Amino acid sequence: MNPSLTPPPHPRNTGVLGFGQYRPSRVVTNDDLSKLVDTSDEWITSRVGIKERRYADDDETIVAMSVAAGADAIKAAGLSAADIDLVIVSSCSLETPLPGAAPEVAYQLGANAPGAYDLNAACAGFCYSLAAADQAIRTGASERALVIGVEKLSQWVDHTDRSTSIIFADGAGAAVLAASPEQGISPVVWGSAGDKPEAIIARRRDTKLEMDGRAVFRWATTDIRDQLTRICDAAGITLRDVDAFVPHQANTRIIDAMLRGQDFRDDVVVARDIEYAGNTSSASVPLAVCALADTGHITSGDKVLTIGFGAGLTFAGQIFVMP
Ligand SMILES: CC(C)(COP(=O)(O)OP(=O)(O)OC[C@H]1O[C@@H](n2cnc3c(N)ncnc32)[C@H](O)[C@@H]1OP(=O)(O)O)[C@@H](O)C(=O)NCCC(=O)NCCS
Repeated sequence: MNPSLTPPPHPRNTGVLGFGQYRPSRVVTNDDLSKLVDTSDEWITSRVGIKERRYADDDETIVAMSVAAGADAIKAAGLSAADIDLVIVSSCSLETPLPGAAPEVAYQLGANAPGAYDLNAACAGFCYSLAAADQAIRTGASERALVIGVEKLSQWVDHTDRSTSIIFADGAGAAVLAASPEQGISPVVWGSAGDKPEAIIARRRDTKLEMDGRAVFRWATTDIRDQLTRICDAAGITLRDVDAFVPHQANTRIIDAMLRGQDFRDDVVVARDIEYAGNTSSASVPLAVCALADTGHITSGDKVLTIGFGAGLTFAGQIFVMP
């Protein structure tokens, strides 16, 4: 028989301690875009639900935005950077292919050389990262983890392509997770559709994003919609126990279609941060959580159902208890 290696210290729980955000200062309205491509505020508002989005300037790099959102989350958690022993940065729009951003983000925050890595699951990346941090904490590999979703998609869209330039935007959101007396995050439900790699694709390092909008729309409003009950089952609750629904902010028509016919309570809070943030891919879920918390729509103890979905195609979702 093989000798047994040291097992994890003891099974334990994970809680979410705080969220943070960084929104770039430059606001780009639909009217601004209609000067660059043949579109209109009316078309974008009715088909996508975006009124304005933010674009990062040159000094608002992936690392800089991550540090700002990370510091905000650490402060909200009541911790200091030195308490963090794991940093996961989720992004699909790094300025450079190598190295990943997480080690430099950790260093600039003042963390003490923690474990640090990047994760790319496109718009599902933040939810994958939440799961990775939860698993690291529950197995004893980490005590307190910082998870960041950050994107600078304005540099990856073709600003003459009206199908993508009106949708994607920039920003960063973050969360701190830590060992906790109670389990405050459910097992992740995840999956992929690898037969559709071309639905959202950047073909080479020097080319821009291309998107088959209809294919993405169809997938999100059928396969992804069906995951909401599975996520609740994994968490041991029902849709009626959910206080807030924070889906990836891809399109308000997708959000509406996901809600239709579902057994949510009438008073469930639904995130619609896309209206003023655009689609910020892996940053969209934490940004939307912050927006709801800032406006008092969600408070401590609320059960939040989240799901990220996008290029790959790939998705991940879970329930967490709002800190
Ligand atoms: C991209 C998307 C908004 C396009 O909407 P749609 O209703 O499918 O639009 P279509 O592509 O069928 O185009 C309908 C018409 O609008 C036009 N159109 C497309 N983009 C336009 C724009 N930005 N402004 C004005 N007109 C536009 C098309 O040329 C077409 O015109 P036509 O009927 O004269 O040929 C929609 O498919 C979508 O939201 N998909 C999901 C995308 C997404 O969420 N991606 C991110 C996932 S992480």
